[in-house]
Amino acid sequence: MIKRYSYIFIITLAALGCATNKKTTTQATQTPSLKETFKDDFLTGTAMSARQIEGKDTAAVRLIKQQFNAVTPENSMKAEMIEPEWNTYNFDMADKLVAFAAKNNIKVNAHTLIWHSQLPAFMHHVQNADSVKQYVEHHINTVAGRYDGKVYSWDVVNEALNEDGTLRNSVFLEKLGPDYIVDAFRLAQQASPHSKLYYNDYNIEEPEKRAGAIAIIKKIQAAGVRIDGVGIQGHWRADNAPLAGIEESIKAFAALGIEVMFTELDLSVLRNPWDNNTADVSATAKADPGMNPYANSLPDSVAQIQSKSYTDLFKLFLKYKKNISRVTFWGVNDGQSWLNNWPVSGRTNYPLLFDRNFNPKPAFYSVIATASSNKAQTH
Ligand code: G3I
Repeated sequence: MIKRYSYIFIITLAALGCATNKKTTTQATQTPSLKETFKDDFLTGTAMSARQIEGKDTAAVRLIKQQFNAVTPENSMKAEMIEPEWNTYNFDMADKLVAFAAKNNIKVNAHTLIWHSQLPAFMHHVQNADSVKQYVEHHINTVAGRYDGKVYSWDVVNEALNEDGTLRNSVFLEKLGPDYIVDAFRLAQQASPHSKLYYNDYNIEEPEKRAGAIAIIKKIQAAGVRIDGVGIQGHWRADNAPLAGIEESIKAFAALGIEVMFTELDLSVLRNPWDNNTADVSATAKADPGMNPYANSLPDSVAQIQSKSYTDLFKLFLKYKKNISRVTFWGVNDGQSWLNNWPVSGRTNYPLLFDRNFNPKPAFYSVIATASSNKAQTH
């Protein structure tokens, strides 16, 4: 008798297993893939966190493999992480990222060689110009040299501009002068001849800052140094993505003969205390309940506004797909986003295409739909 029941139990388990597998398989095959949908248009990427690079965030990693063909390390290749002590490096995370990407046929956009923020602590005590010059040279030669050809591209210099298009004051500008940018690209070109070299910044869809970026690009080109592309970061608000300025910048940068990319795309549904579009990490504000209106869930009306903005943006990207080589989201899902803690710590933001349970949001399906409507128009 027991034998009979155990037999029935085993059969039942097997049937359940198949059903679950079938459901999982069905679920996995049901969700469209961004990289497949836009494979003839541009690369689609995401920022990868340390937990994802270490394989600890299995749900996110599954989604990265399914959805993206490009990744940018959110923090793991920044100077404070990769060179914590003078000329002493920690390549563990970067090596893990490069290995993961190679295994999964994903391109790495390494981020970033020269940035005024997240500098190693020792750089706050380096005062003389010669030491700063030595730092720039050994950092770029060592790091870009190690990953030559292993990373597809580098954000060589990040956020070198002020909002008015002048050069941002930094230890590099102060100690090395305005040529530090061309010199950084020249060093990167020599150290990493097999990786593409980009300038990356936010708000360069605004006229004055766009002009500053154009001046940087032209100066690099005039020096006979290689620059392959420019990254428009794309940290915008869901209710006011600056479409006209974005289109002007796509055209202006493309006219320089370089790739245009959207490198850190997210659409915040929360207002900033100062209500502008800065993405300067040094800007912060105190926690204020009034600034955290969707602590428990995102109202459908707001989700629809975000979907519309993502739709408008992707229609624009597809209009200029010949000039745009990559669109990278700054994170896999809403729970990962830096915007949950910037500029106000401890908020609940919803800036990306996948929710906190890694399920596609309305905006995801709206983005996917732009591809088919674009194909219909072009036939
Ligand atoms: O690793 C430490 C951890 O040990 C510590 O316990 C924890 C709490 O203090 O901090 C952790 O470091 C944080 C790091 O992210 C990793 O999570 C830093 O405090 C935090 O400032 C850092 O924020 C990053 C920010 O750049 C500042 O560098 C964000 O994750 C990252 O999304 C953001 O990305 C930048 C781009 O690199 C450049 N463009 C703007 C974009 C948004 O600011």
